[in-house]
Parts: sequence; C-alpha cells; structure tokens
Amino acid sequence: MEFKDKIILVTGAASGIGRKTALEFAKKGGVVIVSDVNEKGGNETVQLIENEGGKAAFIKNNVADFSEVEQMINTIVERYGSLDIAINNAGVGGPFARLADTSVEEWHRVMSINASGVFYCMKCELQQMLKQGGGKIVNIASIAGLRALPNGSPYVASKHAVVGLTKTAAKEYATKNIRINALCPVFTVTALFNPEQIEQGVPGLPDKLKAGIPMKRFADVQEMTDAIIWLCSEKASFVTGLALQVDGGLTA
Ligand SMILES: NC(=O)c1ccc[n+]([C@@H]2O[C@H](COP(=O)([O-])OP(=O)(O)OC[C@H]3O[C@@H](n4cnc5c(N)ncnc54)[C@H](O)[C@@H]3O)[C@@H](O)[C@H]2O)c1
Repeated sequence: MEFKDKIILVTGAASGIGRKTALEFAKKGGVVIVSDVNEKGGNETVQLIENEGGKAAFIKNNVADFSEVEQMINTIVERYGSLDIAINNAGVGGPFARLADTSVEEWHRVMSINASGVFYCMKCELQQMLKQGGGKIVNIASIAGLRALPNGSPYVASKHAVVGLTKTAAKEYATKNIRINALCPVFTVTALFNPEQIEQGVPGLPDKLKAGIPMKRFADVQEMTDAIIWLCSEKASFVTGLALQVDGGLTA
C-alpha cells in the first residue's frame, strides 16, 4: 500500500498504458482520478478498479483545451484537497507520412494534444504542488522524444517537446520537493500501437520495427507501468529530470 490515500491523476486512462497505470496505483492504495476524452473507456477503467476494491473516479477531459484542464485540477483539489502525483499520459499517434506530405491540420492536432496538452497539465499541476509543498509528475514521452522516427514528424516533434518540458521544469522545481520525470517507451502493444492494424496499412513494418529492437520484441504495458510506479516511489527519491528509456536496448 505504498501510495495509500495519495491523490493520483492519470490522463488518457481509458486504455493502454494509462489504464494499466491507473489500476496499478489503485492496487497500491492510491485514490485514482481517471481522466480521458473517452467517457466509456474511462468509466470502464473506474469499474475495473472498483471491482478490485480500489478507489477511483472519472473526470471527462480534453488535455488540448486549457480551460478544461484548469477546471479539472480545480475540481480535484476541491474534492480531495490535494494532487500528490500526476501522470501526463494522454496522447495520439500522428500520420504516417514524410514531412512535406504532412498536413498543417495533422501537425496542429498532434502538437495540441501531445505537446500543449502536457504543458497545460503541468502548468496547473505545478501551481497546486507548489501550494501544497510537493508532488511528483511523470510525463509519457517516447523513444521518439529522443531520436528520429521517419514518417512521423509531428509525433517526434511533440515528444521531443515533452522531454524538453520535463527537463526544464525538473530543474526549475528541484528545490521545491517536486520531482518531474519522463518515460520514453518503445513500441508497446496498445490501441495506439496495434501491430496487426499497422501490418494491414504498411505490410512488413511491424517485423521491421521489431528487428530494430535488440531484445527482438515489443513491450508489454506492464513494463511501462512498472517504470512509472518506480519513478513515483521513494526508491527514486533522487531522480528528477530523467527521460527514462524502457526500450529493450533500442536507444543504447
Ligand atoms: N504504445 C506505444 O507504442 C507507445 C510508445 C511510446 C509512447 N507512447 C505514449 O504513451 C501514451 C499512452 O499511449 P497508449 O499506447 O496507451 O495509447 P492508447 O491509445 O491506448 O491510450 C491513449 C489514451 O489517450 C486518450 N486521449 C487521446 N487524446 C486525448 C485528449 N485530447 N485528451 C484526453 N485524453 C486523450 C485516448 O482516448 C486514450 O484513452 C501516449 O502519450 C503515447 O504517445 C506509446
């Protein structure tokens, strides 16, 4: 019960890495605020947590809308009195196209959710964490936040932004009892990265991607959740500003 009664926000918790992380924090005693644009999936996550005896509530939220984010953080503080941990996980993949063929609309869509969304969340979360005297933030970036991924320029740019925001804020608040880190996952099987669907669109691509990973497999969501939990735990008490690669050796 390492996180007993801690108030923990997970954005994008209706599926994938976010859902698994929400479930894991609840198992460890946390009160989890499940947030997502997807109401049905978000309520399912809450149900899954409650079925296991955990505590959770759903707040519908679009991270790309600053006023919605501000309202969400205010609601959490009004209801629960604090925000101890925030996992800024909500994100979308981008188009599979070279830069010159990428539309301006796609660029803005991906940047507004993946980059501005994390900035908006961190801005409001940090204001509360400063008031209460501490907190922990983990932003979900990607290995695409550290290196190029051809045919994915908006996604790559948005995830580089997440790593930059993480490192900068970590230094700004290092003396304020607030630790801020990023997780950089490699391809992890979820709705966002579905190898079967990708195979239909670009035959042979999943095998090619897998071959590039030294451990020769994709990641499991549990492997990401374990790293997020560690970053938020006291075992990582001197870790801040880290962009942690969980990637089977890819970026080595
Ligand atoms: N799966 C991978 O291979 C992989 C690799 C690297 C990084 N990531 C990152 O991990 C995070 C989680 O992705 P996942 O693989 O679990 O995907 P997922 O699609 O299963 O989950 C993403 C969640 O974010 C939500 N979301 C999308 N736009 C939103 C918005 N505007 N506001 C609020 N919620 C929104 C979706 O509804 C969804 O529930 C993302 O930031 C993604 O970029 C994933």
